[in-house]
Amino acid sequence: MKTLIIYFSQSGNTRKVAECIRNGVVDVTGQCDITDINNVDTSALQNYNLVGLGCPTHYYKEPFNVREFIDGLPELRNRQWFLFCTHGSIIANTFPSMAERLKKKGIMVMGYHDTYADSKMPYLPYPTLTTGHPDSLDLEEARSFGREVAERSQRITEGDTSLIPEPEPVSEEWVREAEMYSLELLERISPHLSINMDKCTLCHACQDNCPVKGIDIEADPPRIQTPCIYCFFCWKVCPTLAIEADWEFLATFTPEIYARLRRELDKSAAHGKFRWLIDPDSLSFDDPLYKQREREFKGEKQID
Ligand SMILES: Cc1cc2nc3c(=O)[nH]c(=O)nc-3n(C[C@H](O)[C@H](O)[C@H](O)COP(=O)(O)O)c2cc1C
Repeated sequence: MKTLIIYFSQSGNTRKVAECIRNGVVDVTGQCDITDINNVDTSALQNYNLVGLGCPTHYYKEPFNVREFIDGLPELRNRQWFLFCTHGSIIANTFPSMAERLKKKGIMVMGYHDTYADSKMPYLPYPTLTTGHPDSLDLEEARSFGREVAERSQRITEGDTSLIPEPEPVSEEWVREAEMYSLELLERISPHLSINMDKCTLCHACQDNCPVKGIDIEADPPRIQTPCIYCFFCWKVCPTLAIEADWEFLATFTPEIYARLRRELDKSAAHGKFRWLIDPDSLSFDDPLYKQREREFKGEKQID
């Protein structure tokens, strides 16, 4: 059995989980290739009996670039794929949306695994409610999932299709949210990103890390495409804070956003699905990451 794991990961959570799932597959089959989503040779995918595809949840579903990747896949009739994701509390439509698109390519989706993970948003305080995840227990669970999915794949290949699970049902509330956060809406409500050339050192970190290749730093004036996919990773990787935006407005929603996340995490903790690694009552509501980075830039404070 030949297996490949494909991941999209910006801050590293999904990559960590992908590597542990890979180790689990290797425990069972002795082999598992792994690649970043940007380096996938889609014409070679038919050589794999089993493929795992993993990404973060963005805006209650798979990130827009991952959606494009799936839609651009060739027909892969009867190939077995499994899905995994990392998220800061509300996975919502991530798996149903990915599975539906993969099924249109003839792919059989035969496993799902999600992992709670740290989340850094410019307009939210940091540390946040899920800081500390994925920890060693989460990563051990990911490895077990790798073993489980490899064994399941072998049994499905032998004809036991009773083992194919469905993604967990998603409440109407989250399906609606996932649909609502279209690129059009994000374009209207997200702060406009621009590049301050007085601060830019032309290091190209933003351009090289943009998942949709939407930044041209050499253009005159330098260009960030609109709509982009609003992952704000260019802002995170810029070492000189040259990517600028007015975060203040979104930061005013922090108490509302936190109350929502907290409600979901409390529910998950009650079902034993989530473990608090941080005291949620100890978190500050009024020190968003963008302000912390500004202070750090001025040499006033170190962020982990
Ligand atoms: C733009 C953006 C949108 C996000 N939306 C969600 C979301 O809808 N639900 C959620 O639980 N987490 C959300 N997150 C948190 C990420 O899913 C989480 O931090 C993930 O582990 C990041 O993965 P990575 O480190 O592999 O990039 C979002 C993060 C970003 C940057």
